[in-house]
Amino acid sequence: MKTLSYYRITADLYDVLVPRDIEGICNSVSRILARHTECREILDLGCGTGRFTVALAKKGVRVMGMDITTEMLAVARTNAKNSGVKVRFTKGDMRNFRLAKRIGIIWARGSIGDLVEMDDVRKTFVNIKSNLQGEGVFIFDVRDRSFYLQKFRDGVRKEEKVFKHGKRVITFDFSARFDKRTGIERMEGEIGVDEGGSMRRYEVNHALRYYTRREVTKFLKETGLKILEINSGYELDSTKKPQLVIVAKR
Ligand SMILES: C[S@@+](CC[C@H](N)C(=O)[O-])C[C@H]1O[C@@H](n2cnc3c(N)ncnc32)[C@H](O)[C@@H]1O
Repeated sequence: MKTLSYYRITADLYDVLVPRDIEGICNSVSRILARHTECREILDLGCGTGRFTVALAKKGVRVMGMDITTEMLAVARTNAKNSGVKVRFTKGDMRNFRLAKRIGIIWARGSIGDLVEMDDVRKTFVNIKSNLQGEGVFIFDVRDRSFYLQKFRDGVRKEEKVFKHGKRVITFDFSARFDKRTGIERMEGEIGVDEGGSMRRYEVNHALRYYTRREVTKFLKETGLKILEINSGYELDSTKKPQLVIVAKR
């Protein structure tokens, strides 16, 4: 059985497997950014299938996408083509990418949580800072540990689901262990892909980091990035959301 990353296996189904309110989130991000910058050029860091990159481009924002997973980038390029927008998607690692020209805004939607080693988080924040222009703004979200503590009451959860899309049947069989002390969830299991013939099985190990407000504040301060806002979710109402949305500047 092959071991592949979760994103490599699910790339062309990712948008259906993980639906998000793309329009709503893009509108909120535009409103948040308007409070801190006049810049209209964004790097979508960890852009995945480019769904947010393409939505922003459709609004007339100058945007480029970067991701480490080739399969996600391939889907992103197709999405842009099908939507009739021109967006540059580049392969890069957020821990060490170097833009040809510094940029005014970096948005990391859902991608910072994939960095589990503290050293990688620090490297990434330092690197983001050095790719931002003088007053550049960094906006990102992470999973809020306090929100998820309920879900992981005993530290373990099983995820078994079958997902049907067209002719394909995808089976997920995961068990996830959450370490309350470190905030790291480690998922181990199998994804099966049946395309109407034989079943392909892939072994998957995926880890995510969940943050407290204090931790994320500490990481940013260590990097020298100044915090402008920390909100619960992208929509600015009073309900508690699963993510913390952080806005910082160089
Ligand atoms: C949860 S997905 C979010 C994708 C997209 N931003 C969205 O919201 O639909 C996280 C993405 O981050 C990418 N990623 C993970 N580690 C990365 C790294 N070190 N450098 C660049 N991209 C990374 C993954 O390949 C994946 O596409």
